[in-house]
Amino acid sequence: MHPSDLPRPDPSALAASRALLDRIAAELAAHGNWISFARFMQRALYEPGLGYYAAGSEVIGAPGDFVTAPELSPLFARCLARQVAELLEPGDAVLEFGAGTGALAATLTQALAELGRGDAPYLILETSPALRARQRERVAMRARWIEELPRSFRGVMLANEVVDAMPVHALTWTRAGIAERGVCANEGELAWCERAAHGETLAAAGRIDVVVPPSGRYESELALAARAWMRSVAESLERGALLVIDYGFPRHEYYHPQRSTGTLMCHYRHRAHGDPFYLPGLQDISAHVDFSALAEAARDGGLDVLGYTGQARFLVNCGITELLAQTDAADVRRYAPLASAANRLLSPAEMGELFKVLAVGRGVNRPLAGFVQGDRAHAL
Ligand SMILES: C[S@@+](CC[C@H](N)C(=O)[O-])C[C@H]1O[C@@H](n2cnc3c(N)ncnc32)[C@H](O)[C@@H]1O
Repeated sequence: MHPSDLPRPDPSALAASRALLDRIAAELAAHGNWISFARFMQRALYEPGLGYYAAGSEVIGAPGDFVTAPELSPLFARCLARQVAELLEPGDAVLEFGAGTGALAATLTQALAELGRGDAPYLILETSPALRARQRERVAMRARWIEELPRSFRGVMLANEVVDAMPVHALTWTRAGIAERGVCANEGELAWCERAAHGETLAAAGRIDVVVPPSGRYESELALAARAWMRSVAESLERGALLVIDYGFPRHEYYHPQRSTGTLMCHYRHRAHGDPFYLPGLQDISAHVDFSALAEAARDGGLDVLGYTGQARFLVNCGITELLAQTDAADVRRYAPLASAANRLLSPAEMGELFKVLAVGRGVNRPLAGFVQGDRAHAL
């Protein structure tokens, strides 16, 4: 889809985007007309008061720009609850990163109570003030909000579609070397501008095995922020596990020769397109997750990789088919929407295969139910 075919936002939304653009333009003017793409993405999504997540509470779900698994069906949270309950030990807590509208927290807390683990405190670490307010409306009595990672945490951490929203660096590999694709202003518009990569970005990009195609250019992303986040999780996690659920690949698929234009994706009103500079602050920008990079950062921080598999396999291992069977198929009104949502969660053409589940942890010495069959941790 071309951005010119997208629905037009209302004047106040346009004014907010203009204000964010002015701030980005001021930063460009102060920095020789170049900032990294990661810096741009950070401001477009998280700029206080103006960034996409910072300002918008109607970003997820039917009225927003995209739908996530917990919004699609309670079956997702009910399956996850089985894995979480298995991992929880007495005195443990659950910590959800980036809880969006609170959909996962609402069903998961209820399902944990049904599984006899309603005693575990449910913590939410959310960077967006607008979404924090939305979550409070939904699960005020069942959760507690925290501002930063606890120094020492025991229990289960969850991140559903959070890592894809972390800023990425944009790179180009050519036969002449590695360039960083940053953002500059060109005749009043934001544009891509390349310069030689250096420092941590060059070192990390240089370690990736990229085959430059006949066109002479291979573009992709580098998840430095996600790695730093995983290191901070590793510091915090004294015992227990983190489950990351998101769309992405292990490294050899992420940097596959055929994926030569990268994985950046933008969403505006349920339409996907590839222009990250379209109306900053009003649209979602994301990149697929390099699960090998997350696993490496976890291992560097002393965590073990406990499992890695596709979302469909994980949900089936956690009993989604039995949960679905609890609703009488003859009751078409209740059964049909559940079955249709289960199909979206499981189908390889939808979320079943593109979405993966990675579990990392410390002091967990038994196999996890979600990975009993089809564990692909060796592929990371
Ligand atoms: C794509 S939304 C997913 C929301 C929700 N998990 C779901 O599945 O519906 C990304 C969420 O992650 C939050 N977020 C992004 N980076 C974060 C971070 N480093 N720590 C905590 N939350 C973060 C955003 O504010 C937003 O709520």
